[in-house]
Amino acid sequence: MSMHSDVKYVMITAEQIAQKVKELGAELDRIYEGKKPIMVCILKGSTLFLADLIRAMETSMELDFMRVSSYGSGTVSSGKLNIVNDLSADIQGRDVIIVEDIIDSGNTLYRLKELLLQRNPASLRIVTLLDKPERRESPIEADLTGFVIENEFVIGYGLDYAEEYRNLPYVGVLKPSVYEK
Ligand code: IMP
Ligand code: MG
Repeated sequence: MSMHSDVKYVMITAEQIAQKVKELGAELDRIYEGKKPIMVCILKGSTLFLADLIRAMETSMELDFMRVSSYGSGTVSSGKLNIVNDLSADIQGRDVIIVEDIIDSGNTLYRLKELLLQRNPASLRIVTLLDKPERRESPIEADLTGFVIENEFVIGYGLDYAEEYRNLPYVGVLKPSVYEK
């Protein structure tokens, strides 16, 4: 069965995402002109956003990946940062851009930012595709945000529910019947 049938409604279309990613890429080009930042993709949810975002940029860059866990297969943040895979690059003296899919409670990013700042980067910025400010528990904001959204659990364009739905080309809301299964 198609995963589209589990979607209650499309919140952000593929076209709206593409347009926003273009704007964010252009903004990052302006900020990092003449520099060579390291783009840090937070696995796994940010992979699609990262892939599109870097192709919307002309700035020379390096890529790195980090996997931290905050959610299990459910929808409630555990509020604890667990580093599953660390960066391979030494970020001391480098311009670092954290690429996130969504800021929800902010607990993950708050702790991650603290951790990366201890490594003395030249600068550290956060770009997030989505932001749910209503849910914030930790005092953290992105420097660049794609879309501010309502307090709904969303899936697609990298975001999952129990590891599914990441390959939806849009951001959508799941039917409650999927949670109740
Ligand atoms: P936070 O620590 O609560 O800000 O959330 C951290 C991570 O939880 C995000 O990077 C996502 O991977 C995941 N997450 C938060 N909200 C959602 C959602 O609505 N859908 C899917 N994943 C989410
Ligand atoms: Mg994430």
